[in-house]
Amino acid sequence: MDDKESIGVYAASLIKDGQIVGLGTGSTTAFTIKELGRRIQNEGIKVYGIPTSFQAKLLSIESKIPITSLDEHDIDIAIDGADEVNPKLHLLKGRGGALLQEKIIDYNAKRFVVVCEERKLVETLGKSFPVTIEVFPMAYKKVYTSILHLGRPVLRIDDRKDGPVITDNGNFIIDLYTSVTDPKLMENELNDIPGIFENGIFTCKCEAVFMKKGKVEVIKSK
Ligand code: A5P
Repeated sequence: MDDKESIGVYAASLIKDGQIVGLGTGSTTAFTIKELGRRIQNEGIKVYGIPTSFQAKLLSIESKIPITSLDEHDIDIAIDGADEVNPKLHLLKGRGGALLQEKIIDYNAKRFVVVCEERKLVETLGKSFPVTIEVFPMAYKKVYTSILHLGRPVLRIDDRKDGPVITDNGNFIIDLYTSVTDPKLMENELNDIPGIFENGIFTCKCEAVFMKKGKVEVIKSK
């Protein structure tokens, strides 16, 4: 097992019988979802999942995890990946374009566990990834010009279709290349702009699970 798989599988062991689980998006949580499916089949635990994206939903169905919604249940534990994690456990998410449902689910979970490889720990968010912003299509140009002072915004273009990436929610993505020195401030500043649904700066309480020298380490935000 490589680090990514070890962390993903470990995170599934944190889920308790009877819990409602937010199921994250990406390659790390894919291991969590598959392992949770295995625990349901082999150990007989009863859980319901609330997926954070179409990808997570399909994989959950494939893994035979019963699915529910925020209308019906509160979330006990959400497990999700990240692109970058700073020392205060603020996150950058959205590489896969799934930030909007991820943020709703992760922020509403009683416990939020981030699964990330050690290489994702950075001093300042924005080192290797942009701030992903989900934008209502008709507001794209207005949003673009409104955030020029914050960095270099780029409309995310699909490589398998002509034109922009369309999210699971029918929106565009703008990637803002910048250094995020004050994550809470930038998270709020971006969300104040009409036409922006959400951005990939996550500043809620969480705990990060990663591998260090072959061992699982957990750090919690204060
Ligand atoms: C999805 O849009 C992202 O927020 C992912 O959760 C994040 O990119 C982590 O994905 P990996 O586990 O594939 O690195």
